[in-house]
Amino acid sequence: MFKRIPGTKDILPGEIEFWQKIAQTSRTIFKVHNYHEICPPLIEEAALFNRSLGEATEIIRKQMFIIKKEQDTYALRPEGTASVVRAYIENNLDKDPGFVKLYYMGSMFRCERPQKGRQREFHHIGCEAIGSYGPEIDIEIIALADNLLTAYPIKGYRLIINSLGCAKDKNELNSLLKERLKDKTGELCEDCKVRYGQNILRVLDCKNESCREIVEQLDIADSYLCPECKGHFNKVKKGLDILKIKYEVSPNLVRGLDYYTRTVFEIKHPDLGPQQDALGAGGRYDNLVKELGGPETGAIGFAFGVERLLLAQGQIQLDKLEDLVYIITLGDPARDKGLELLQGLRKAGIPSDTDYENRSLKGAMRKANDLGAKFVLIIGEDELKEASVTLKDMAKSTQEKISQAKLIDRIKSSP
Ligand code: HAM
Repeated sequence: MFKRIPGTKDILPGEIEFWQKIAQTSRTIFKVHNYHEICPPLIEEAALFNRSLGEATEIIRKQMFIIKKEQDTYALRPEGTASVVRAYIENNLDKDPGFVKLYYMGSMFRCERPQKGRQREFHHIGCEAIGSYGPEIDIEIIALADNLLTAYPIKGYRLIINSLGCAKDKNELNSLLKERLKDKTGELCEDCKVRYGQNILRVLDCKNESCREIVEQLDIADSYLCPECKGHFNKVKKGLDILKIKYEVSPNLVRGLDYYTRTVFEIKHPDLGPQQDALGAGGRYDNLVKELGGPETGAIGFAFGVERLLLAQGQIQLDKLEDLVYIITLGDPARDKGLELLQGLRKAGIPSDTDYENRSLKGAMRKANDLGAKFVLIIGEDELKEASVTLKDMAKSTQEKISQAKLIDRIKSSP
């Protein structure tokens, strides 16, 4: 028997309704903020991600699913930002007036060690606003993330923000860290020993206890930020204050991807556990569009992990399911009439189904009950002769005979 690949999941009926609810709510909220959906391919040239995320990042070093085909090397996308920026440039979206606000939903792939809230195929709901350096759009993006969580609804999350500064400030931070950690490399965890040489910023957000203790004592705060980047960050914080969005500033929030500059943020939730507690994350990437061959322009975005939204889902309530009409027919002639009525109900947009298995009346009624049908419609010999149906209201335990011609109106008019 074949089994699914570790770190992937079958999303079955019963759970999929929560996914649908999250997708629907997201679409509504994105629309309210004037974001438009984009659907880039799941597979891209691997070099796109190497260039965007950075050769030294964990995703590129260890986690990409690579497919080699003759001369070409493709990758299943590990995230959406690089693809959206590629699509923005390739389709000349920069020629549109004003800046471009896009959102996306779909599978991402990272070859990680599977555990709760960490899969190899997982799903992002994300957005990217490309074309502005202004702090107002940082505020909009963070407010949008907050509005999405309120709409799902998910409560009890924490918003953590930081500024990495411009490319020059990031270099400054790198040098500062190299200098301050120089004598402490022996005390760092094995991963951070590698990070010290390749991607030193990530030492700052290592979850290992001894690394955290070392980081606590570094006392770097925002000393590496130039006056412009400090000013930008102050405006972002002021905007969040005006919108009464609560946040914590953490100088240790650095994010795992190279493209980030200036504002970065993460949204954490206690239900996810200490190892992967981020519901979502994002930030500015002011150099990426140019880096990938586009115009010089600012951009910012974020993505939620849908699996993690669902782990905090205790609070997400499903809308009432559509009411189902279940048709039970007794005998062959009634069966033909049943098929005709079923088609009529469906064409009228009324969710309906029938018993295809020739069950007894009792068995078919049990099935209707299991399906949670609101109405059961019975057609036997008498009903056939009278061109009527027996309509049972399952919740009220009442039944009435009505003419077949009035059936659709009768069902549509029921509360
Ligand atoms: P990221 O932090 O790598 O950012 O991923 C965003 C979110 O995806 C995480 O906060 C987490 O909820 C979820 N996630 C990541 N990896 C996994 C996994 N293996 N299993 C389950 N969930 C996972 C990005 O990908 C950026 N592209 C976000 C962004 C958009 N920045 C700017 N624009």
